[in-house]
Order: sequence, then C-alpha cells, then structure tokens
Amino acid sequence: MSKNIAIITGASSGIGKAFLEEIVKEHGVYGSVPFDEIWAVGRNEEKLIEIKTLLGEERIIPVKADLASPEDMSVLADRLATGRPQVGLLINCAGMGMKGAVEDHPAKTIEDTIDVNCTSLAKLTRICLPYMILKNPVLTKDNCPRVINIASSAGFLPQPGFAAYAASKAFVISFSRALYYEFIDRGIIVTTVCPGPVNTDFQRKATGGTQTEFTGIRQYVVADPVKLAKASIKASKAGRQILVYGFSQKALHVASKIIPTSWILFIEKKLMPVEKVSAAVSEEGTAPYVPEEKRELESGASVEGIPQSVPETDEEKPVFEETDKAEA
Ligand SMILES: NC(=O)c1ccc[n+]([C@@H]2O[C@H](COP(=O)([O-])OP(=O)(O)OC[C@H]3O[C@@H](n4cnc5c(N)ncnc54)[C@H](OP(=O)(O)O)[C@@H]3O)[C@@H](O)[C@H]2O)c1
Repeated sequence: MSKNIAIITGASSGIGKAFLEEIVKEHGVYGSVPFDEIWAVGRNEEKLIEIKTLLGEERIIPVKADLASPEDMSVLADRLATGRPQVGLLINCAGMGMKGAVEDHPAKTIEDTIDVNCTSLAKLTRICLPYMILKNPVLTKDNCPRVINIASSAGFLPQPGFAAYAASKAFVISFSRALYYEFIDRGIIVTTVCPGPVNTDFQRKATGGTQTEFTGIRQYVVADPVKLAKASIKASKAGRQILVYGFSQKALHVASKIIPTSWILFIEKKLMPVEKVSAAVSEEGTAPYVPEEKRELESGASVEGIPQSVPETDEEKPVFEETDKAEA
C-alpha cells in the first residue's frame, strides 16, 4: 500500500516550522490518521535536519529544494512519481518578499518573489494533484486530501513599498479560492490562509536585516506562528475555503472590499511613505537608480501624470460584497 504523506514547504522556519510541529501531532490533537511521512521542504537542509532531531520524529523527511529553481521542482516531481505516495496534505508555506520601492531592487529579487510565492505554489499543487486520492468515496473532514495555501492580508490591496509581494499574495488568494471550487468535486479541500504580521524571521529578511520587529500600527497586531498554524489546520479540517486570521485583518479585508482602492492607497502614501531598503540594493553592488521625475518630486515639484490628490473620478465605486460564510 502506498504511503500517506504530508508535504510542507517553508518548513525550515517560522510559520512552516510551526505547521511541521503541529502536523507531527496530527493523530493526537487533530484526530485523523497520522501521516507515514512528513516531507519538510526548504533550501536550508541543516535547519530541517536540526528540527527533525529536535522533534525526535522519524517520519519527518527533510527535502532540500530551492522552489525558485525549475530543476529542483522537477526533482520533487520525480520523487513523487517514483514513490507514488498518497498526498494527504500539502501546505504551501514557503514565501519571500523584499520591502522597498521596486526601483531599489534588482530585477532578480522580483523574479524570485514571483517564482517562490506564485509559480512554485501553483506548480507544486498541480504536481501533487494526481497523488491526492480520496480513499473513501464518502467525503469526511478526516479522510479528504487537503491543501493549505499561505497567502497574506497583503494580498487584499496593492502595496506601494511592497508591490511585488502584495501582488504575489493577491495571486495566491485568487488562485487558491478558484481551486477550492475546482477541487471540491474531487473531494479535496483547499484552504487559503491570510494572516497579517506574524512573529517570524520574515520581517528581518524582508528589510534586508535592517528591522527585526514590525513597526508602526503593525507591531500591535503581530500574531503567534503556532496559534496561526493550529487555527489554519482546524479551518482546513472544518472544510473552510478561507481563514482571514485575526480581528484586525478581518476588518482590513472588509475595508478592502468597500472602500475604493485609490482612496486607501492615497491615505497609505500619506501615512506610510515607501521605505528605503538599501541592503537589497547592495546585493548587486550598484547605487539605486533615481529617475529624473523622482528627483524633481523630492525637490517639491509636481510631476505631470502622477496624481497628487484623491482622484475625483467615480470609476471605482464601493462594491458591497456579501461576506463569505467561511469568513464570518
Ligand atoms: N511573517 C509574516 O508576517 C507573514 C504574514 C503573512 C504571510 N506570511 C507568509 O507566510 C509564509 C511563511 O513565512 P514566515 O513568516 O514563516 O517567514 P520565514 O520565517 O522567513 O520563512 C520562510 C520560509 O520560506 C522558505 N523559502 C523561502 N524561499 C524559498 C525558496 N526559494 N525555496 C524553498 N523554500 C524557500 C524558507 O526556507 P529556506 O530558507 O530553508 O529555503 C523558510 O522556511 C510566507 O509565504 C509568507 O509570505 C508571513
């Protein structure tokens, strides 16, 4: 009989590591059949082995893979094709993002953000699909294969100063919510998780090491990765299509649907100017490119074509949508 496995990407750190710890308890705490193997995917193999040793869990299989690399994705696909396991759970948690203006980043950083956050998530889900087999034709929350995709509340709105990341997470939300409806007929539950700031290494990495903690209003709504992982597993087991984690993020989600995006962006630009992240630039050893218009703007001149006030057009009327039953 083929093995029943769980695959967790981003398992070497933060939220993914918290998922790994919780999935180890799948039988005891979460009530369903435990997995024969738990594939913990990440680039940092040493860290994965260290976590396996720390948890003393033989079922954890460290899988070294750079998800931005098509070659590594192929190796992962081959590994599944050879072992032909049943994928009972796929948690797409690996992710990255660099804060700062797009012009301050090498193009490779933007490419990697899209490759890891979007391409690898979509590809791995598709690669795993043939192995997500419903063992019992009667769908129950305990026996159905499940996918948990980690998006972010950053995906609710465009985010100047974090543009590629926010756009990548908008992709994750849209893709995963569509998959929920595609996969449900095959008895597979896809749950999209949208946390706000979480206490992990993410902020340090996203600021090129200049900030280890969240600042401003975000510092007051930082979530705990273990609580988030527990809530996500419970949401997935309850068959929910989306979990917007925490009251503040739920409020943001509703606001993003009823307030015109241009208004929110205008206020955001006033309150939170785009931060300079020089560490990302020094990666390539080049000075940041400062375009002519920006230099003029910095000296106080207005630039044609760049709106300096709230647009008066009503093209973006508020859209009142019924809140999902799942989000209530
Ligand atoms: N922390 C937050 O505030 C927050 C908020 C909302 C959503 N999220 C999302 O939550 C997820 C987990 O983030 P986190 O907070 O736990 O951050 P983290 O501690 O930095 O963990 C990121 C994980 O992604 C993996 N990863 C990054 N690039 C990879 C690549 N090219 N190939 C394979 N693995 C890669 C890393 O593993 P290796 O380094 O071993 O490769 C690491 O395990 C991400 O999708 C993030 O966007 C985070």
